[in-house]
Amino acid sequence: MVAAPERVGLDPAELMPRAIGRYTPLVVDRGRGLYVWDTKGDRYADFTSGIGVVNTGHCHPRVVEAIQEQAGKIIHAQANILANEPMLNAAVALTETLPPSLNQVFWTNSGAEATEGALKLAKIATGRPAVVAFRGAFHGRTHAAMGVTSSRVKVRGHYEPLLPSVYFAPYPYLFRSPYKGSPEEQDLRYFAELEELFDQLVMPDDVAAMLIETVAGEGGYMVPTARWLRLVRELCDRHGILLILDEVQTGMGRTGKMWAFEHFGIVPDIMTAAKGIASGMPVAAVVSDKALMDKWMPGSHGGTYGGNAVGTAAALATLEVMRDEDLPGNAARMGEILLAGLKEIQADHPVIGDVRGLGLMVATEFVHPDGSPNPEAVKAVLAKAMAEKVILITCGTYDQAIRVIPPLIVTEEEIRDFLAVYRRAVAAL
Ligand SMILES: Cc1ncc(COP(=O)(O)O)c(C=O)c1O
Repeated sequence: MVAAPERVGLDPAELMPRAIGRYTPLVVDRGRGLYVWDTKGDRYADFTSGIGVVNTGHCHPRVVEAIQEQAGKIIHAQANILANEPMLNAAVALTETLPPSLNQVFWTNSGAEATEGALKLAKIATGRPAVVAFRGAFHGRTHAAMGVTSSRVKVRGHYEPLLPSVYFAPYPYLFRSPYKGSPEEQDLRYFAELEELFDQLVMPDDVAAMLIETVAGEGGYMVPTARWLRLVRELCDRHGILLILDEVQTGMGRTGKMWAFEHFGIVPDIMTAAKGIASGMPVAAVVSDKALMDKWMPGSHGGTYGGNAVGTAAALATLEVMRDEDLPGNAARMGEILLAGLKEIQADHPVIGDVRGLGLMVATEFVHPDGSPNPEAVKAVLAKAMAEKVILITCGTYDQAIRVIPPLIVTEEEIRDFLAVYRRAVAAL
């Protein structure tokens, strides 16, 4: 073990702004696969993947090699001035994973910037001003992105005025649904509320886009039904509205398929991707049809760093690892084991009200005996898991759920070890 350098003894609580709410006090030295080591040399299992980012595992050797090799060739080949090979190769590799209508990539630096780009593209392409977004969604923290976000008020509260002409419809949250009946009966009611926007609040031909997380992330890991998403797709088609799917958290194999929309039999007009796309390098993408992208005049969107050579070299290596190691397939297989194991724990512990998810995008929601959200239990389970050197994070408006999102290279043994820790943590409540 390499000795920790003296300077990491400095206090993150002093040096990092309070705005960065922190789950752990750890200062990390290195990572590999599922694990990170702190500067004291202690090993932790990272069941957060750095919020769904290191899908190939921390420091996958092929990604590290690609970064090192590219850094020695050229780091910054500014896209307005120079194209670089990694940005072109990664665009080919990315679009090869997508349906033919998603064939051109605008590279950018973060999920929030991808949201900005997608909204700007939709407005330019349709000439329309308004956007429909969904309650509980998270799309980022830049000014327009927080204006379409409603997962928690602290993301947007006290920042008004926000982006105007944003209309919110409810996202199906079946565990806390105000409606009765089967998921399919309920999704019709959710859909009716969406349609009602056009009767009460906004003309459909003023709407540029509907922006949806294919599976809700930050807001609580809610999985919609295929029928609801297909109805939304049809509604968009009926009114010439562009469907933007935010695949920032759900994409890159996380849900057991390369892109979550593949589970539901729909294709977006515009897709955003980030997080897992480059294994931790700050890379994101807006993907759409070239004909739509051509509505952007030269200079009408851009950025200094988009398509950064080192970042897109990491993206290319990440896409290759996804394919060669069949990480979406492993996510599907491990996800089944994880979901089944968590449901067994739920059966013994009614404090877990719901277990839900797709692939390795799984959450457990904690409840009080009266069914209300139980963030106190969540906090206690996180602390217990941390004491056993397992890192977890929350989701949901009230922090009432714990997400379980390990890197997609996780093994069955690691999942089973995790389930044992989780069972002990829940039993200790
Ligand atoms: C679904 C979704 N969209 C957008 C974002 C914003 O991404 P970033 O933090 O890279 O700006 C996030 C981040 O958590 C996300 O989960």
